Amino acid sequence: VSATRGDADPGSFLQLATYEKGSYSPGAGLPRRALWYFVNESVFRSGYFPLSSLKRYLLRLFGASIGTNVVIKPHVNIKLPWRLAVGDDCWIGEEVWIDNLDQVTIGANSCISQGAYFCTGSHDPRQRTFPLITRPILIGNGVWIGARAVVLGGVTVEDNAVVGAGATVTKNVPGNHLVVGGPVRDLGDIRPVGL
Ligand SMILES: CC(C)(COP(=O)(O)OP(=O)(O)OC[C@H]1O[C@@H](n2cnc3c(N)ncnc32)[C@H](O)[C@@H]1OP(=O)(O)O)[C@@H](O)C(=O)NCCC(=O)NCCS
Repeated sequence: VSATRGDADPGSFLQLATYEKGSYSPGAGLPRRALWYFVNESVFRSGYFPLSSLKRYLLRLFGASIGTNVVIKPHVNIKLPWRLAVGDDCWIGEEVWIDNLDQVTIGANSCISQGAYFCTGSHDPRQRTFPLITRPILIGNGVWIGARAVVLGGVTVEDNAVVGAGATVTKNVPGNHLVVGGPVRDLGDIRPVGL
């Protein structure tokens, strides 16, 4: 392990100066994104505005599809509202982070508990350019995502499934099933020899 500060770094596999976004586009121009950044920080993340009605209104204004009676607790972080659809009577708990570079769709009557993280973005760590990969997340109707669960891009959680607290969901969850856990697995050395 080595750490350098400000020096050239010929030893790193990743070369972030060559980072590739590929075909990714945020789906809105800079003024709209800047305005949403301010609204997200001040109204959604701050906790000063506990009322869901204002948040439903603002999300719709910025292009989200939001059903009736959706509850949005304080300290929620939403990346791109125009890539969010939430069905009727859903609950979004404190500190839920919807990192929706790609579409996130949540069905009706679903409960997303505190601190859940919807992670639509990833990178290919086998390439030095660290290319961005984005994939959508689909949560069905009547689903419960437990506190601090992580749901990765490309995952569908089918109707009436439950994801236990702290789970890491990398694959689709069948309807009505309960899934828990998420121990890390060492998948071996992914770097070329000598790096
Ligand atoms: C998913 C959940 C409801 C399961 O409850 P349950 O069906 O009563 O399950 P049990 O407590 O009987 O546990 C069954 C087994 O699963 C394991 N388990 C339960 N929840 C787990 C979790 N979140 N992560 C890992 N393992 C879990 C238990 O250790 C037990 O293992 P064992 O069979 O080896 O003893 C619950 O554990 C959970 O995660 N709740 C979420 C809490 C939450 O998010 N609250 C926020 C809103 S208030």
